[in-house]
This record gives sequence, C-alpha cells and structure tokens, in this order.
Amino acid sequence: MRLYTLLAAAKINLYLEIVGDRPDGFHELIMVMQSISLADRVTVRSIGVDEIRVRCDHPLVPTDDTNLAYRAAALLADRFPGIIAKLGGVEITLEKQIPVGAGLAGGSGNGASVLVGLDLLWQLGLTQEELQNLGAELGSDIPFCVSGGTAIATGRGELLDPLHGVDGLHVVLAKYGSEFVSTPWAYRTYRAEFGDSYLVDAAGFEQRRSQVRSGAMVAAIGHQDKGAIGQHLSNDLEKVVLPAHPKTAHLKTVMASLGGLGTLMSGSGPTVFTLVDSQEAAETMAQQLKVEIPDPDLGVWTAAFTSTGIQLET
Ligand code: C5P
Repeated sequence: MRLYTLLAAAKINLYLEIVGDRPDGFHELIMVMQSISLADRVTVRSIGVDEIRVRCDHPLVPTDDTNLAYRAAALLADRFPGIIAKLGGVEITLEKQIPVGAGLAGGSGNGASVLVGLDLLWQLGLTQEELQNLGAELGSDIPFCVSGGTAIATGRGELLDPLHGVDGLHVVLAKYGSEFVSTPWAYRTYRAEFGDSYLVDAAGFEQRRSQVRSGAMVAAIGHQDKGAIGQHLSNDLEKVVLPAHPKTAHLKTVMASLGGLGTLMSGSGPTVFTLVDSQEAAETMAQQLKVEIPDPDLGVWTAAFTSTGIQLET
C-alpha cells in the first residue's frame, strides 16, 4: 500500500488539575481525557523524492518543521535511519475539521496519526506502547491521541490509565475564530498566580493522584452517571484563561444558561463545550447558541464521545 488515510479524533478534558511543578519544567497534571467524533483527516503517501512534505489548506497551520505532523515523520526517520532512502519520502495531507489553537489537541492528533500511518506505510511493526513513547517525545497529549477513548492522564499528561467509556454522551463545542490561547502562556500565568499553592514532592503528587482516582469524576464515569459527569467537570486553566478572554468567559456563561449537563473550557482553551445526552439535544442547543450569539466569528460544532483516537479510514 502506498497511501493510508486516518481519522484523528479531537479530545476534550473532562477534568484538568494542575498539581505542581516538575523538575523538567513542565507541570504535573491529573486529567480525564475524552475523544470525540470531531476529527481531522490525515493522509500519508509515499513519494519518489527523499523528503517529508506537509500540505494543509488551513491558513493558520504551518507546513514546515514546526508542524507536529512533520516532526512525527522526522522522528521516525531519525529512529529508523535509511528508511526514507529505502522506501522514499512521504507527503502528509491534513484536512482540518478540528479548530486550530483551540484546546482540542488537533495538532497533537495530527502528529499521532502520522506515527500510526507511517508505522503502516513503512511496515515498522511498532506496538501501540512504542508509538505512544515516541509520541511523548513530541508532545504531552500525543500518547492519549494515539489510543483515545476515555483515560486518566497523569505526569505531563503522557501516563495513561484507560477508563471504560460512557455511552450516549454528546457535546456542543464553540470557539471564537479570532480568539486563541497560547498553551505555554496559560501554564506560565497559572504558575505566576497559583504557584505558591503547588505541591512540591512526589509523595504529594501521588496522594492527589489517588484522591482523584477515587474521586467524584472517575466514580461518575465508572457508574455511567451522565448527570454527575456534568456536575464534576473542572479545569484549573479556566482560572487564568477566562479572566484574560472576556468574550470566551461570556460564551461559557451563555452556553451554561442554555442547559445541558455541564459546561467547561477544554484544555488551555479557548473552546468551550457543553455535555448533553443525545445528538438531537446537541443540535438543538447548537442552533440556540447561534441565535443567542449571532456573531459570524463564533464557530459551533456538535460531536459524540468516541472510544478511539486514530482510526484507519475504510
Ligand atoms: O507538551 P506540549 O508541547 O503539548 O506542551 C505545550 C506547553 O504547555 C509546554 O511547553 C508547557 O509550557 C505547557 N505544559 C506544561 N505542563 C504540562 C504540559 C504542557 O507546563 N504537563
């Protein structure tokens, strides 16, 4: 096969707690991650020249070596010396559906799908764990994007404990096209404001991890209790992102006023989502939101919870 097309699912955070500083300069996190059916289409294709090329028609997506899709291909080429000389280069085509710079791991999902796609194209025979370990070198969310579904993510976000997924949950997502949040800025600002209350030692980190594992959100997921999942949505980064982005803060207030099970900002934002229990309810709420905020800058999407991260398109 000379070409593989994959669907790379977006993720939302049902829970994101910043626990403390890590020696590597990152933050120690406890998150509950969830894949959703909003997905980018990623094609990897062998080409005759010894190059890695990225094509994307989205004006905000770079196609150079800063793109995680490029970096994923370069990492594999580095780990398997001579593979490009032997099998030819690769052209990666990204068809974006997931909004860019949105807190939905769109770029991470693209990187994850290039790892999965090139493993197939180049017949590398890597295990999922090996793909995830490579992904962790590129970005904290990439290991989750490889496996997807529902998982507790700890460490930098790369250590995963899969959970049983919840059936029948849907989501309405909204983001102003002109609003972006820099993830490093969000974490830096959080450290400046809340660093005094950070836990400092490994024992403290482990205590918080076990509290969350036996806590309300994980129990709600275990019991498939959609109402409780909605009630226990939580994201520490809201504390710094929403005050700095009043339009997004207002968006969250409006979305919460429309009902549903609960409303939260995903990751470092600025996408805000509301959980609902049917696709019909999601579509109705999406329409209501467009009436409440008739701003052409506001993008609104609906999606379902899914149990997969990267899927091969049949
Ligand atoms: O790992 P990733 O490249 O996605 O992280 C983007 C940025 O988010 C990092 O450069 C860092 O500033 C911040 N971050 C963090 N702690 C984490 C994950 C990300 O401080 N666990």
